[in-house]
Amino acid sequence: MGRKELELKVQRFDPSVEKAPRFQRYAVPLKDGMTVLDALLYAKERLDHGIAIRFSCRMASCGSCGMKVNGRPVLACETQVADLGSSTVTVRPMDNFAIVRDLVVDLGSFFSKHAGIAPHLERKGDLQEQESPSGEYLIRPDELDSFVQFTYCIKCGLCSSACPTSSTDSLFPGPQALAQAHRFVEDPRDEANEERLDLVDKEHGVWRCHFAGTCSAVCPKGVDPALGIQLLKRHVMAARSPSRRKKAKGGGGARVFPNPNKDLVKSP
Ligand code: SF4
Ligand code: FES
Repeated sequence: MGRKELELKVQRFDPSVEKAPRFQRYAVPLKDGMTVLDALLYAKERLDHGIAIRFSCRMASCGSCGMKVNGRPVLACETQVADLGSSTVTVRPMDNFAIVRDLVVDLGSFFSKHAGIAPHLERKGDLQEQESPSGEYLIRPDELDSFVQFTYCIKCGLCSSACPTSSTDSLFPGPQALAQAHRFVEDPRDEANEERLDLVDKEHGVWRCHFAGTCSAVCPKGVDPALGIQLLKRHVMAARSPSRRKKAKGGGGARVFPNPNKDLVKSP
């Protein structure tokens, strides 16, 4: 019986010297457990050193191998060839990003938008404690539950590549950044909600999301950015209505140390 082969079709494009992308075909011997990244690395190592790919961890953790495989945005390192149900695998770079070369896209604006929503906890009134910590900031399990899924984001960019608003509005922060804004707004330890909500309550901000839901459908880590964005809209509305704000935010900001209660947990 002959050796099973996979037809790997890879989009090639060097914008510095070519006018348009083209596809190149490679015959890759199929192996049990082979991922799309394995197939690409076989082609790169044995057939064509020039294929440009970005990857690192090979375990769906670093977020660097996002690409479009048979039309769907996925992580190449966790996508099993056998699960695709086809002997032809077509690989293209993610949509909504400029191509650097072949499968490598420019994520500069993606990371800038992430940085633009101030993705870190901010405390305002306890500089002494921040300079010389004497304990831990603790939150309740139910408070952690309200945002923990958003901390699983690995910044792969797949959600933004699938977002119809991102494809038409380059100023839109995108589902990843907005979901992270919600993550910090929801965190009771954070004290910069007003500023962060101002950052997203803009013409090209949170209201540009029309809840297509494609971001959540493609997220490889089970994050639901579409949900985060709708909840963020609720926070913005509450912030514009002072009497409702306290209720929407919850008690918020409590700090307890040393740990007096085994039911309280540290947040990631
Ligand atoms: S929300 Fe999901 S798809 Fe979007 S960047 Fe984070 S891990 Fe990737
Ligand atoms: S190589 Fe790190 S997520 Fe795929």
